[in-house]
Amino acid sequence: MRILVTGGVGFIGSHTCVELLESGYEVTVIDNLDNSSPKALERIEQITGKRPDFVKGDIRDRACLDQIFESQKIEAVIHFAGLKSVAESVRKPIEYYSNNITGTLTLVDSMRDHGVKNIIFSSSATVYGDPAFVPITEECPKGICTNPYGWTKWMLEQVLTDLHTSDPEWNVILLRYFNPIGAHPTGLIGEDPKGIPNNLMPYITQVAIGKLEKLNVFGDDYDTPDGTGVRDYIHVVDLAKGHVHAIRKLADKEGVSVYNLGTGHGYSVLQVVEAFGKACGKPVPYEIKPRRPGDVSTNYCDPSKAERELGWTAQYGIDEMCRDSWNWQSNNPDGYRD
Ligand code: NAD
Ligand code: WQD
Repeated sequence: MRILVTGGVGFIGSHTCVELLESGYEVTVIDNLDNSSPKALERIEQITGKRPDFVKGDIRDRACLDQIFESQKIEAVIHFAGLKSVAESVRKPIEYYSNNITGTLTLVDSMRDHGVKNIIFSSSATVYGDPAFVPITEECPKGICTNPYGWTKWMLEQVLTDLHTSDPEWNVILLRYFNPIGAHPTGLIGEDPKGIPNNLMPYITQVAIGKLEKLNVFGDDYDTPDGTGVRDYIHVVDLAKGHVHAIRKLADKEGVSVYNLGTGHGYSVLQVVEAFGKACGKPVPYEIKPRRPGDVSTNYCDPSKAERELGWTAQYGIDEMCRDSWNWQSNNPDGYRD
């Protein structure tokens, strides 16, 4: 069975390619390399002994997509491609709506015309906004997003749901990721952000390697045990495996399904800092700063629906997430750059 993975060279996509190839699936990747390096493809081959078919292209390029669907027997699409920086999306809303919304519309239009009606979509916990309750179940209402990036996920969930309503042959699985961190245990693939990282873990790893002086902890006056924000960090390999389970689930033809992919455990910023310090053998210097606008206090999920219906649960804990993030960063101090 051949799967088209859009954005398959990126952080979560590359780990998912590894799990798909190791589970016996054939993989075609389309990626414009806007936020990734082709070296990740070599590394995927190093880990699995197999190289995915790679098309350097943009999902807004209809002709490029048509060519893929016409030349290969694609049975399902895992759709990662998109822009993902919350802060950048506030500065560049047109780029975010264009890439994420137009890109997805072009993709599903081409899929429809080629009779490929199975899609797994990378959604995000961000669609819950400031969650109505925690732990967040899939029944928790979608909330108000605080940035254009979040709205693209919110809207695309609706677009894909409407697609199924219009044509019940579509099978849509919406995966709402919590906070993916970690890296492949080989240390060969991992997260490689351009510039100064926005997210907690890549910032911490760059402090630990000496590229950044100290971590700014955004707020210590939240209503949490130590006052810092609480999140549901999930090892990227667990997240990647969740996609293999979702691919199998498509066979049940259940229309539109939504799953939270997280561990169900919340960790505060300072707990992550401490766990990382243990993993790298030295304390991570930090300073308390004001809250970051748009941040919520506590965000973690109830992942039991994914366990019940997909047969998937996260295996790794925070110590392994920190160990593998550090292993990746220390083996590749400049990421995929030489
Ligand atoms: P990433 O930036 O590492 O990967 C995305 C990939 O898509 C990159 O390789 C990029 O070059 C490619 N891409 C972007 N626009 C494209 C286009 N128009 N055509 C072709 N390729 C394009 O990001 P990631 O962390 O791996 O995230 C993957 C998906 O998961 C994204 O949709 C993201 O919004 C979603 N997500 C990520 C997180 C997270 O914290 N990392 C959390 C929730 C959801
Ligand atoms: C985690 C915690 C920060 C950086 C974002 C997106 C979300 C999803 C995952 C895509 C918070 C604190 C962070 C720093 C800090 N992505 N922090 N100092 O904001 O939970 O989620 O990524 O869909 O949509 O919003 O992740 O890693 O940025 O922050 O103190 O330098 O770490 O305040 O409490 P977040 P994050």
